[in-house]
Amino acid sequence: MKGFFSIFVFLVIFGSVRGDLQTGFYASSCPKAEKIVQDYVKEHIPNAPSLAAALIRMHFHDCFVRGCDASLLLNVTSSSGNQTEKVSPPNLSVRGFDFIDRLKSLLEAECPGIVSCADIVALATRDSIVVTGGPSWKVPTGRRDGLISSSSEALAEIPAPFDNITTLIQNFANKSLDIKDLVLLSGAHSIGIAHCTAFSNRLYNFTGVGDRDPTLDSEYADNLRSRKCPTQNSTTKVEMDPGSRNTFDLSYYSLLLKRRGLFESDSALTRNSNTLALVNQLLQGTLQNFYSEFAISMEKMGRIEVKTGTSGEIRKNCAVVNS
Ligand code: HEM
Ligand SMILES: *[C@@H]1O[C@H](CO)[C@@H](O)[C@H](O)[C@H]1NC(C)=O
Ligand SMILES: *[C@@H]1O[C@H](CO)[C@@H](O)[C@H](O)[C@H]1NC(C)=O
Ligand SMILES: *[C@@H]1O[C@H](CO)[C@@H](O)[C@H](O)[C@H]1NC(C)=O
Ligand SMILES: *[C@@H]1O[C@H](CO)[C@@H](O)[C@H](O)[C@H]1NC(C)=O
Ligand SMILES: *[C@@H]1O[C@H](CO)[C@@H](O)[C@H](O)[C@H]1NC(C)=O
Ligand SMILES: *[C@@H]1O[C@H](CO)[C@@H](O)[C@H](O)[C@H]1NC(C)=O
Ligand SMILES: *[C@@H]1O[C@H](CO)[C@@H](O)[C@H](O)[C@H]1NC(C)=O
Repeated sequence: MKGFFSIFVFLVIFGSVRGDLQTGFYASSCPKAEKIVQDYVKEHIPNAPSLAAALIRMHFHDCFVRGCDASLLLNVTSSSGNQTEKVSPPNLSVRGFDFIDRLKSLLEAECPGIVSCADIVALATRDSIVVTGGPSWKVPTGRRDGLISSSSEALAEIPAPFDNITTLIQNFANKSLDIKDLVLLSGAHSIGIAHCTAFSNRLYNFTGVGDRDPTLDSEYADNLRSRKCPTQNSTTKVEMDPGSRNTFDLSYYSLLLKRRGLFESDSALTRNSNTLALVNQLLQGTLQNFYSEFAISMEKMGRIEVKTGTSGEIRKNCAVVNS
């Protein structure tokens, strides 16, 4: 019984040292922090709405490698020749680093050394999606910044556009996200753009014999080939949700059912009975249903392997670890 009790006490103490994210973590240490982020986003994102897509993708890529610890923002890591996540192929076009840097400068001016880059990414992502008319979600704070950024880990852990449903489910499960989270978070492809290189194999050389992906709608494939991505190595960009790239809506899911999901990873969601059932449920519900379910998954994603308490650090400059 005594042993039992000490284990209990140990867990309570350890739990509180380890800490968790908290609503309004900066309420006393930097009361204006969340407002500063929100105001800056409200001022600038309406002029550059495509940054909202860039930021949510940045948040996702950050969280999937070493947790949501701003490791993606590092230019170099201390003392080693490690390539950073930023220069890894899946970073492809992750944009918005300078936006986060400007926010960081404002927060350093207000309260030096208090607000982590990881929290800035999480808050700015949510606020920019809200400002562009998309869903909102809770962003508890208290994340700390990591010290390590590794290109090879990014390559291994960020899902690829050619991944099949089995790999995607496993990849998300590795981050404690379930198939519902997979289906909902993929809905972020309702906004933003992709380079032709992310899917041109489906148009030109799917199995290595100059063929197409038979699961891609042929009219859509023709259109992509002739107008959008005329060469296989094109660096042209296309809307992932044509005609609706700035609107966070359910059209992504209707396109999936029309075999017009842009990536194999998108169309894969229709090829598993559980994920397909979720897609159908979302389409039968309202936009508000989608938004509230998306919010739950986003909050979960924002908690992946976060560093709190005394682990990691509060970076002074988001691109470099403190010396
Ligand atoms: C399920 C596995 C996923 C795969 C395989 C995947 C893959 C990709 C790829 C290849 C691109 C195009 C990048 C480019 O060519 O520039 C892209 C764009 C994007 N992804 Fe994903 N993604 C996945 C999940 C997610 C999640 C979970 C989110 C956010 C919650 C997300 C948000 C976005 C956004 C917003 C864009 C557009 C970025 C922009 O406009 O700059 N994706 N994704
Ligand atoms: C980090 O790298 C980016 C380019 O990727 C550059 O614009 C920025 O100035 C660098 N920041 C620092 C502090 O080295
Ligand atoms: C992303 O990685 C590519 C190489 O794979 C590199 O050319 C590009 O500069 C990187 N992007 C950023 C923002 O660092
Ligand atoms: C380099 O990356 C490896 C993992 O790929 C990691 O174990 C190591 O700690 C990294 N080193 C630094 C200094 O970031
Ligand atoms: C999914 O992809 C993985 C890795 O490429 C492969 O090993 C597996 O056989 C594929 N599964 C299916 C059902 O195609
Ligand atoms: C999931 O994690 C395991 C163990 O770290 C790893 O071997 C595997 O490659 C991961 N799978 C995916 C699809 O990321
Ligand atoms: C298709 O891919 C195969 C294998 O990678 C390659 O040998 C072939 O040249 C490619 N064909 C075309 C038309 O690009
Ligand atoms: C890309 O395509 C163009 C035109 O088809 C060709 O001239 C060029 O060599 C290609 N580049 C690469 C890297 O394959």
